[in-house]
Amino acid sequence: MSSASTSDAPGAAAPLAFGAFDPARRADPYPSYRALREADPLYRIPLGDLQATLVTRYDGCVTALSETAWGRGEVGSNAWRPADALDGGLRSFLRMNPPGHTRLRGLVSKAFTPRVIAALEPRITSWVNSLIDTALEAGDVDLIDAFARPLPLRIICELLGVPAQDEKTFRGWANDLTRGLDPDYLLTPDELARRVTSSRDFDAYFRELIAQRRARPTEDLLSRLVAVQDHGDVLSETELLELCALLLVAGYETTVNLIGNAVLALLRNPDQLALLRADPGLMPSVIDETLRYDSPIQLVGRVALRDTEIAGHAFAQGEVIIVLFASAQRDPSVFADPDRFDVTRYAGTTPAPRHLGFGLGIHYCLGAPLARLEAEIAMRALIRRAPDLALAMDPPPYRPHLTIRSLAALPVRLSS
Ligand code: HEM
Repeated sequence: MSSASTSDAPGAAAPLAFGAFDPARRADPYPSYRALREADPLYRIPLGDLQATLVTRYDGCVTALSETAWGRGEVGSNAWRPADALDGGLRSFLRMNPPGHTRLRGLVSKAFTPRVIAALEPRITSWVNSLIDTALEAGDVDLIDAFARPLPLRIICELLGVPAQDEKTFRGWANDLTRGLDPDYLLTPDELARRVTSSRDFDAYFRELIAQRRARPTEDLLSRLVAVQDHGDVLSETELLELCALLLVAGYETTVNLIGNAVLALLRNPDQLALLRADPGLMPSVIDETLRYDSPIQLVGRVALRDTEIAGHAFAQGEVIIVLFASAQRDPSVFADPDRFDVTRYAGTTPAPRHLGFGLGIHYCLGAPLARLEAEIAMRALIRRAPDLALAMDPPPYRPHLTIRSLAALPVRLSS
């Protein structure tokens, strides 16, 4: 196992004490990931005030995500605050192990059904078309602000029963809470403070909304979650609040960037865009290839729940790893020509090995069908209605997120 050099000491100037996460490389972190992956499957790094191990190759990441020896746990460091603190949406079953995780995920799955998702389709189509109408009128737009962001925001609001007039406030909370996905010591004091305030405001708002739905249920997901039952078991008020925050943090910024990253990759690879235009049936493969090639979530954390091993290296119970699946998905021992964006990779009778963009194992993304539906409808309409779509800035700017690959803007030109 390699270890980070002393010149990479932790601190504000070296965010993860690790060159691959240097802000200067944010526009294209993949060559740095490759250098690490080629050097070692495991790489020791300081993570706040503890030592963690970065897992860089596909096999190791699959092991970490799918084996029961790895899970969630309190790491007692300044990297992430304890889950019982007011921590901005980081409490939730995403952060739990069985049996607590199994119980909550089971209850939520009873409410968040394929029917609930399918029922959104006509509204998604209509919102997508109205956003494109406005963008076409403008001609030059930031595609994130004008298209990729408003759609998932509207959908999360719709699922959680947030009325249109509160969407702007909700968007502010979403930004502050999503920022909390990164280790605490990477956040500025202002970001930490805003996360706490937004978390409190969010809780107060949703306490009220939950009470309203108990009194007068509607057709939205929140009403279903309030009413869900499994052999007499129900979600408590605290669990409902945590769940609302989880759906917001897990389902919003991720989908924004799936759409943004897909459009960016297509515009940078005109031959691939031409293939897609010639065969729109390739769209599901484009979504999967984007999740492999430029995944909205780059990494997740895990803790050893007992003594175990990865790639022949022993880990003691309590050790922390960072599963860098954005690197694993470019592993040439698994994916042919991994640095190529190939819209046919997940099409046909022998698709590529599965990507890890929605995770793997018991925490596999609960919102994957919804994210796919949103991205497919959005991309299909955009490609069809804006035949001369072109990048107006390359590379586009990125926000200082580590966990989420977050485009700050995607300036484009378009006309019908
Ligand atoms: C492109 C969009 C999305 C991406 C890339 C994504 C990715 C992921 C990943 C990688 C995980 C696993 C995290 C881990 O193993 O630690 C996850 C979990 C989760 N996602 Fe998503 N997600 C997306 C959209 C959504 C949406 C739209 C929702 C719901 C509205 C959602 C809800 C969840 C939930 C509830 C979990 C926790 C599952 C569990 O712990 O059992 N996600 N997502």
